[in-house]
Amino acid sequence: MAMTPLQRLIRDEIAARGPMPLGRYMALCLGHPDHGYYMRKVPFGQAGDFTTAPEISQVFGELIGLWAADLWLRAGRPARVHLVELGPGRGTLMADAWRATARVPGFHAAADIHFVEMSPVLRAEQAARLPHARWHADWASLPADAPLLIVANEFIDALPIERLVLTDAGWAWQAVDARADGTLAFVPGHPASADDLAPLAPLLADAATGEVLELCPAGQAVAADIAGALARVGGAALLIDYGHATRARGDTLQALARHQFADPLVAPGEADITAHVDFQALVEAAQAAGARTLGPVTQGRFLRQLGLDVRTAQLAKANPPRAEALVMAARRLADPEEMGTLFKVLALVAPQWPTPLGFDT
Ligand SMILES: C[S@@+](CC[C@H](N)C(=O)[O-])C[C@H]1O[C@@H](n2cnc3c(N)ncnc32)[C@H](O)[C@@H]1O
Repeated sequence: MAMTPLQRLIRDEIAARGPMPLGRYMALCLGHPDHGYYMRKVPFGQAGDFTTAPEISQVFGELIGLWAADLWLRAGRPARVHLVELGPGRGTLMADAWRATARVPGFHAAADIHFVEMSPVLRAEQAARLPHARWHADWASLPADAPLLIVANEFIDALPIERLVLTDAGWAWQAVDARADGTLAFVPGHPASADDLAPLAPLLADAATGEVLELCPAGQAVAADIAGALARVGGAALLIDYGHATRARGDTLQALARHQFADPLVAPGEADITAHVDFQALVEAAQAAGARTLGPVTQGRFLRQLGLDVRTAQLAKANPPRAEALVMAARRLADPEEMGTLFKVLALVAPQWPTPLGFDT
């Protein structure tokens, strides 16, 4: 297979500096300014590489909009609130959320929309749907002068991970090396230090050679930063992603191109690369930074509690030719064998704010 432009850059960087840490490799594949996967194209939908929940049914964004508006009402209708989405893709979720909340008295007058998005191509898509939004390159520059209502759908799974791998010589940080022909291979990088390993000891016990433990420092930093901001200004965040509720060892790094699994080391920049989200790590980071957490609960349970079936039936009744497609879409989002169980929803809530809907046990 011909080398991609990004593969050439990666090979040259490895030649100059040695094997590349996995997190840097993933960050370049997704976010290199010229050749990164998200920086060049719109990857979603049938013709793209994968489909996300807001692209499956309008009800997904509608319910999240109403979730946010309900919380705002019960928090005493603060005069201003920032509605924030991290990694909004095509802007579909927020467009549906905004339309669904138009009749909540006072909400649109109080709310403004902020998008955290690195991709110029996707910013343009978002601007076509929500021209009055404001954009930020990362979450650190979000405003801190009013409560925040934040949503992130399939954002954290796209943040770079690092992996510890057990070699015969002990735990090492996994890296990417280049062979003489320019193809890429995983290799054990520099050995993990005692300080690296100490907090992870229970997770590493009894591992066999070759086993891996994935860590997402960027995801934990997002959870901690959001939690800290919520504790200061009030509000809540919904983090929705595919992943596991409790930490475990295992290899979950995956690449997707045209709805098929691909090798993450072949054709860098041409495929989406993600890893399962470790929700336990997010919960721990958020709590340590001062937020309450609810969940994670499964996406199916969350959406059904918010009224997925009622709203779907209402839309189906109003538009009989689309009824079957709407019901199928709802099932795809919520049924256990589809996205209903693998995808999970975690809420971070400011300590003084009411408890959000969707997390009843
Ligand atoms: C898998 S897509 C999800 C899109 C959308 N939330 C949806 O559900 O359709 C990931 C989104 O996060 C953005 N993104 C990924 N990493 C980012 C980063 N480090 N900073 C800002 N945006 C990022 C991508 O450009 C894209 O919009």
